[in-house]
Amino acid sequence: MSKPCTIHDYQQLARRRVPRMFYDYADSGSWSESTYRANEADFDRLKFRQRVAVDMTNRTTQTTMIGQTVAMPVALAPTGLTGMQWADGEIKAARAAEQFGVPFTLSTMSICSIEDIAAHTSKPFWFQLYVMRDRDFIGRLIDRAKAAGCSALVITLDLQILGQRHKDLRNGLSAPPKFTLNSMLQLMSKPAWGLRMLGTKRHGFGNIVGHVSGVADLSSLSEWTAKQFDPKLSWDDIAWIKERWGGPVILKGIMDPEDAKSAVKTGADAIIVSNHGGRQLDGAPSSIEALPAILDAVGNDIEVHFDGGIRSGQQILKAIALGAKSTYIGRAFLYGLGAAGERGVTDVLNILHKELDISMALCGERDIRNVGLHNLVNPGVFSVE
Ligand code: GLV
Repeated sequence: MSKPCTIHDYQQLARRRVPRMFYDYADSGSWSESTYRANEADFDRLKFRQRVAVDMTNRTTQTTMIGQTVAMPVALAPTGLTGMQWADGEIKAARAAEQFGVPFTLSTMSICSIEDIAAHTSKPFWFQLYVMRDRDFIGRLIDRAKAAGCSALVITLDLQILGQRHKDLRNGLSAPPKFTLNSMLQLMSKPAWGLRMLGTKRHGFGNIVGHVSGVADLSSLSEWTAKQFDPKLSWDDIAWIKERWGGPVILKGIMDPEDAKSAVKTGADAIIVSNHGGRQLDGAPSSIEALPAILDAVGNDIEVHFDGGIRSGQQILKAIALGAKSTYIGRAFLYGLGAAGERGVTDVLNILHKELDISMALCGERDIRNVGLHNLVNPGVFSVE
């Protein structure tokens, strides 16, 4: 391939370099994948107001998320199995994020552990929590994140039951990978990936294996999740988690204004409008379509963050123009990671930043904090009758 210059270029590279079961894991949506596709496609419905003959010098994309300064309104979303896209992937991505000046969020379902990330970074990162049946384990996980100096806890609310992803079932996805003939062939077809994997000890779920009795490895991800994740999670659980944690809390997976209001009542610092990258309720609206109604309901009461479908700086700008305080990238950084490790994540952040900065200038804005509805031709395109 000629020099990659878009997120989709990195996607193509990752598809070639990462064994299929792990590439598919990152890149699939649930069931028909209609919500997964809509997340990206619906951005095209929003149009910018192009402005001319305005001073475009001295631009800045710097802003804050929950009071923390970020170089641009982007955080790395928590993504499971990141260390299977590239050996020690969470460490690589965390370092790239730190270097760039945006938050990295470590998933509960990561390959590298909380302690691994703390040992290889110098600034605080964020930790994402899945609430499991074993509350003792959850409590200890929170304590570990605190001890590692994490500066926000992201609680995911939309995955207490796993939405079926057909590709994962067909691939028999597990971590570490099971050595069936099919998986062996997939792994052997990517020797550079395999060599890097041989160079690290981190192949299982670093936050879990060794910390819960009876869990040695996770044979099938979907069976394991069904056993461990607590379908009884309720708003009341947020109170004890918040108290045990004692720091900033961000609630992820809000798609409905009523849920957004309940989230505000918990005293959380921010919510993330997210449909889990179209991996959970297939048939739910895209995140960008859901965003305006949630902002109407709670936009004055809590910081509203946005996640879902971002593959360009223009899309970041659209989410900010609609009123989100900041955005998250999941697949976008995973493509960079799978394509070229830490450098690939850095490349992806640079591409997004450049696209965001130039598009902001062409909208006649010099400061991301001034971007708003006035930068859109049709800000009401998603309004519900
Ligand atoms: C979460 O970990 C997922 O697989 O979507």
